[in-house]
Amino acid sequence: MFGKRVSGIESQKREPAPPPSAREPAARVIEAPRPQSIQPPASASNFATAGVPNGAAVAAPPIAPPAPLTVMEGRRSESFYETKGQIFGALIEAIDLTQLSKLDGLQAREEIRDIVNEIIAIKNVVMSISEQEELLEDICNDVLGYGPLEPLLARDDIADIMVNGAGTVYIEVQGKIQKTGIRFRDNQQLHNICQRIVSQIGRRVDESSPICDARLPDGSRVNVIVPPLSIDGPALTIRKFKRDKLTLEQLVKFNTISPEGANLLKVIGRCRVNTLISGGTGSGKTTLLNCLTRYIDDDERIITCEDAAELQLQQPHVVRLESRPPNLEGEGEVKMRDLVRNCLRMRPERIIVGEVRGPEAFDLLQAMNTGHDGSMGTLHANSPREALSRLESMITMGGFQLPPRTIREMVVASIDVIIQVARLRDGTRRITHVTEVVGMEGEVVTTQDLFVYDYLGEDHNGQILGRHRSTGIGHPRFWERARYFGEEANLAAALDASEVIGEPLRG
Ligand SMILES: Nc1ncnc2c1ncn2[C@@H]1O[C@H](COP(=O)(O)OP(=O)(O)OP(=O)(O)O)[C@@H](O)[C@H]1O
Ligand SMILES: [Mg+2]
Repeated sequence: MFGKRVSGIESQKREPAPPPSAREPAARVIEAPRPQSIQPPASASNFATAGVPNGAAVAAPPIAPPAPLTVMEGRRSESFYETKGQIFGALIEAIDLTQLSKLDGLQAREEIRDIVNEIIAIKNVVMSISEQEELLEDICNDVLGYGPLEPLLARDDIADIMVNGAGTVYIEVQGKIQKTGIRFRDNQQLHNICQRIVSQIGRRVDESSPICDARLPDGSRVNVIVPPLSIDGPALTIRKFKRDKLTLEQLVKFNTISPEGANLLKVIGRCRVNTLISGGTGSGKTTLLNCLTRYIDDDERIITCEDAAELQLQQPHVVRLESRPPNLEGEGEVKMRDLVRNCLRMRPERIIVGEVRGPEAFDLLQAMNTGHDGSMGTLHANSPREALSRLESMITMGGFQLPPRTIREMVVASIDVIIQVARLRDGTRRITHVTEVVGMEGEVVTTQDLFVYDYLGEDHNGQILGRHRSTGIGHPRFWERARYFGEEANLAAALDASEVIGEPLRG
């Protein structure tokens, strides 16, 4: 059914077998007789040796019974890849990919399985049932999915997948980066998979357009950079989309924050405190932002602006916006700033910006300052103070001709709280600061820490020991706001309960 030359198959079924030298249409393999009745040609007698990509298509008259072909040695041995490569080559010759693409996933898999089984039989490859299953699975993944990445994509415990060329794949699990045994056949296969990923959003990656951001259908965020910019083959980075987003309760369980600290965050989320979440790459900023949004009231109209939609808000009244990169002709780009500006005309009550990285910082601050209390965003910075200066430089570099003092005054008038998250060297994530923006002293923005994480050392397993504590500030600047929302008792309880008495206060 899916042979490239279907009519050829039908007519040749009744013809005598061609001489060994004649190359049959590759599609013949689909209708090829059962292995008992045919023998592979001499050239295909050792299937595990290279150079017989079309062996499956050659249904030659018997010459001599072939010796049993190479046994697949162990998982992911060299011969596994070699054998797989050759069966794959024969399969690609045999099937019509356009026809295949019209089938649904399950049917297509069945079709491929049938053909691969035929090829294995014809080529007389000796392998156990489990090896055959493994190879079938791999080949289906190659043809229909993302090849060797499939088993990694299926796992929900992986945060990031990092492919540095065909031979090296790293993953991040539980905050730790580890090397996997997974590899691609070659850089061409990796390139094809990158291509397949980005083609889903109408883009391509090649020498002329070697960088691309994309998304997998499950929402995972993808970055691809290919040669000549990446020197050792395509580099592919995937931030896996977590179906089950972490909750504040889970963050408490992971010691990212203490229970009292979590109560403080709930108050911040609920009381419409303008909040910036700051942290390094992969430190958990988006996750924490998502957690905070759970405490927003159901009747608030929320508009989210993201480069790649990652947030999963639970409220009923949400409009989700996503920026758009330019198309192949370099047109049609919609930047984050366009989204944030537009959402000001959409009667938002809260604006949530997935990541502030450019001139949209100015619009977000303006929104926070003009009645959209409780707006939130994340930004890359290593400390709350650095977050403030990053914000300032984003505005300056955005071309706004404002004196530094004016920008700082704007920051002070807009941002209430900065929450700092960090990924520590033992792989755990911690909220290290909840810091209030207090005011200005001269030219300098003043801040005060409400809640901090103290590093106390590490245990014999290398796990970092520490504790969260409040700094003893009983009445934060947003106290009145908490009172207005009836949350002042919770706020006071959260701060009091995490005070460490009898030690000099730090922070
Ligand atoms: N507190 C946490 N404990 C354990 N895992 C976490 C925690 N916070 C986030 N993660 C996991 O870490 C990964 C990265 O999280 P997230 O996307 O929130 O980071 P990020 O700081 O927004 O990254 P980026 O800078 O790339 O946008 C995700 O897989 C997430 O599930
Ligand atoms: Mg993020």
